[in-house]
Amino acid sequence: MSTRESVPLLRVQDLHLDFGGVKAVDGLTFQVYEDDVLSLVGPNGAGKTSAFNCITGFYKPTGGSITLHGTDITRLRPSAIAARGMSRTFQNLRLFGELTVLDNVRAGMHLRLRQNALDALLHTPRFRRTEREATDEANRWLDFVGLRGDRGGLARNLPYGEQRRVEIARALACGPKVLLLDEPAAGLNYGEKGELLDLLQRISGLGIAIVLIEHDMDLVMQVSRRVVVLNFGREIADGTPDEVRRDSAVIEAYLGRDDDEEDEEMMSHE
Ligand SMILES: Nc1ncnc2c1ncn2[C@@H]1O[C@H](COP(=O)(O)OP(=O)(O)OP(=O)(O)O)[C@@H](O)[C@H]1O
Ligand SMILES: [Mg+2]
Repeated sequence: MSTRESVPLLRVQDLHLDFGGVKAVDGLTFQVYEDDVLSLVGPNGAGKTSAFNCITGFYKPTGGSITLHGTDITRLRPSAIAARGMSRTFQNLRLFGELTVLDNVRAGMHLRLRQNALDALLHTPRFRRTEREATDEANRWLDFVGLRGDRGGLARNLPYGEQRRVEIARALACGPKVLLLDEPAAGLNYGEKGELLDLLQRISGLGIAIVLIEHDMDLVMQVSRRVVVLNFGREIADGTPDEVRRDSAVIEAYLGRDDDEEDEEMMSHE
């Protein structure tokens, strides 16, 4: 069991990202512990995805630092960060549409598999065994995420909700200690959202920390240990779901928006 005193798995310290005049992320600080499920919420354009892109190395932050297991990863490339135990999914799905479902998940493992080019060229027994093990493991992750569709078919032929599952399976196949999910419930129907909640709880049960960006407040309130709220790049609240839901700055940020669907969802939990 980790405590607030223990070293955080992931520490984001005073993160800044400017796009010209736009301060997409403007001083974001939070910690993620080994057994955490932390949600990052906020109105559209608040800087949530930008923060993920900095943390996972896709963007270079203009200021601040990010440490994973106490190691500074602020300026590392995405693959180097993934190899250290952080994987992610994307707000806009990024599967290899022309690869099979199974190969998409196997692709998640390439960082961990120690394949030797000569073994591959000669199709040595060692190469074949590693390939078989990778396929078995990919199948286990697809079972874990509850994929129903054809695993030998092209990823792009799966329905949207199923593609989202494949993306999570691929991220899990990287062997992460912390998993970042950018709006995994977007576009899912009611039943699929229930299954997603169950999946997130099972991922957490594996001892993998989760950082979740999500607009679906039902899901956020049910799954999160802590919630960080961003508005115009700035952190306006950090607390338990109950604390955040009652926070006046949070209520104002949500009520101040043009489309107020999510305010009502947020308020309906009172
Ligand atoms: N590549 C980019 N170039 C320029 N501006 C960008 C870029 N990416 C994001 N922004 C701007 O940064 C701000 C934060 O955007 P971001 O996508 O991080 O928000 P978000 O919180 O993820 O929103 P949403 O909930 O709609 O996904 C916005 O003003 C956006 O227009
Ligand atoms: Mg986003």
